[in-house]
Amino acid sequence: METIKVKFATDDLSTVEVKADSYLLDALLERNLDVKQLCSRRGLCATCHVYVDKNPENLTPPTPRETLTLAVLTGARANSRLSCQARVIGDGVEVSLPEGLYIDSFESLEKLIGQRTQVPILHPVTGDVLVPANKIIIRSIVEKLEHLNFDIAKVRYSDAAEKK
Ligand code: FES
Repeated sequence: METIKVKFATDDLSTVEVKADSYLLDALLERNLDVKQLCSRRGLCATCHVYVDKNPENLTPPTPRETLTLAVLTGARANSRLSCQARVIGDGVEVSLPEGLYIDSFESLEKLIGQRTQVPILHPVTGDVLVPANKIIIRSIVEKLEHLNFDIAKVRYSDAAEKK
């Protein structure tokens, strides 16, 4: 069995063992990480985005859709991958996660009004920082983000349209 090390920004490396050719996302889920998979593993959102810090050659190459999505993703780097698209084909891959919390709807952000964020709140499709860390979420910020549900619906619609 191939081994993946999942690295957290502040923790020690945690090792997860996965079957060869399984998706990197499955290793994150094995580790109980909060990966929302907003687009249901279709390579269209930011919620499974990771940085590959070691042995990127031990993952399958980026798919065309993954390349397109990463091209417009805020916070993407040369070592960015979408974990739902990358399969593990060798040992010793190490990844770290973007800092922040992806929300999955405008309503879920609204529920956080009045609370101080410990980490940045991130847009689930573009990866934009919606609310920086250590800021209290106030209603006027949320009101500026009312387009958020629309964006998510658009992503889902585009994917459904592609299948026709
Ligand atoms: S779950 Fe949406 S891109 Fe991977």
